Amino acid sequence: MPKVSFTYEIPEIAEKKLKDAGFDVWVNREERTLTHEEIINLAKESDALITLLSDNINKEVLEAGKGKLKVVSNYAVGYNNIDVESAKEFSIYVTNTPGVLSDATADLAWALLFAVARKIVESDKFVREGKFIGWRPQLFLGYDIKGKTLGIIGMGRIGKEMAKRALGFDMKVLYYKRNRLSEAEEKELNVEYAPLEELIKKSDYISLHTPLTPETHHLLDEKEFSMMKPNVIIINTARGPVINEKVLIKYLKEGKIAGAGLDVYEEEPKIPEELLKLDNVVLTPHTGSATFETRDKMAEMVADNVIAALKGEVPPNNVY
Ligand code: GLV
Ligand code: GLV
Repeated sequence: MPKVSFTYEIPEIAEKKLKDAGFDVWVNREERTLTHEEIINLAKESDALITLLSDNINKEVLEAGKGKLKVVSNYAVGYNNIDVESAKEFSIYVTNTPGVLSDATADLAWALLFAVARKIVESDKFVREGKFIGWRPQLFLGYDIKGKTLGIIGMGRIGKEMAKRALGFDMKVLYYKRNRLSEAEEKELNVEYAPLEELIKKSDYISLHTPLTPETHHLLDEKEFSMMKPNVIIINTARGPVINEKVLIKYLKEGKIAGAGLDVYEEEPKIPEELLKLDNVVLTPHTGSATFETRDKMAEMVADNVIAALKGEVPPNNVY
């Protein structure tokens, strides 16, 4: 019986599907990430691996699976944790979960945008601490959203959902993408293409929706921050290293930008102390796709990809 191993427990719908398909299923039931060595051993003895974005599936792991391992099915849309070139070399499919989490992730990006613009988290803390002693004309002043300029960096499925949600706020939406959208699509989404520099200079809100690749690593660095408006709010639900976190912290601390809403960090799960001390940031623990509905759909998808690969088919969400 082919063996399918989960590096961590995910919604049980996946396990059930795989058991029903006749596979021998093993799940790490401990509340801890497996060590690199444990993952290597798992790769050796499994026909399929179901992994998290926090598992480092490098060449060593893939080489250990060579010959037996058919597929690494990542429980995420991003797959920067997997060495895809090595997987290809060893004829191991790599799959992800595109599409099903675009709405949930765009929703969280908007939730962060609102939370930062209107100081929701700070205000909540203030009320709980018993500091609300009466209406005040200048208490927790934030920033307007309607009519402002939103800059979307990365215009894939998630970026497009972000843009759709801006329509109701009459925002001007600029976007930057390697390959420009068609005119028809730009019209439908009510978005305007802008080179990165122009987007950065003109935006009141900047939201990141790119995958992490060598090209997008530190896409927002000193030079980019130096061109931003002083009232800009940065939202990152993509990947931490797309922003140079040290530079971001410096600009936040010095009040050279208005705030940031972050769901991802440069060295997850490590968060710099300095970031934790800032009032003008709202921080969430990489929960972009964390809705009941979405996580179930992702679980079904990882199982379907494994089932296809173990039948000898190219899985529907193979990334290469
Ligand atoms: C989450 O970050 C994902 O890539 O699915
Ligand atoms: C991911 O789903 C993206 O293409 O934005």
